[in-house]
Amino acid sequence: MRIKACRKAHFNAAHRLYRKEWSDEKNAEIFGKCSNPKYHGHNYELVVGVIGEIDPETGFLIDLKILKNYIKTEVEEYMDHKNLNEEVPEFKEMNPTVENIAVVIWRRLRDKIPLKYDIEVTLYETPRNFVTYTGE
Ligand code: NI
Repeated sequence: MRIKACRKAHFNAAHRLYRKEWSDEKNAEIFGKCSNPKYHGHNYELVVGVIGEIDPETGFLIDLKILKNYIKTEVEEYMDHKNLNEEVPEFKEMNPTVENIAVVIWRRLRDKIPLKYDIEVTLYETPRNFVTYTGE
């Protein structure tokens, strides 16, 4: 029986979306308010789904305490209250869009969570804008 268990988390972070070879005007045109040269913050809401088989001995899919700890070390301690462009190495050369942040979170968790599980990362940048990445 395959089932998905989810854990929610939250972090705040600042970012700026831009391409350095573009003018401020072109960046503002493409990225809108998210291109503010002085940065701005978002309240990110994260849902991590872990998919796999229920262990018949325990009745668990995964010990959610383990998932909670990986989210804490790999996402919260790594990104919360950070300037993503300047303080998170993955975004030195890559725009910290909600899409790219979701992919980075997925990769960081993939390195930790046993491969017998599939992982799904849903990340909300605003209450109405969110993406889901499943590793494809
Ligand atoms: Ni933004």
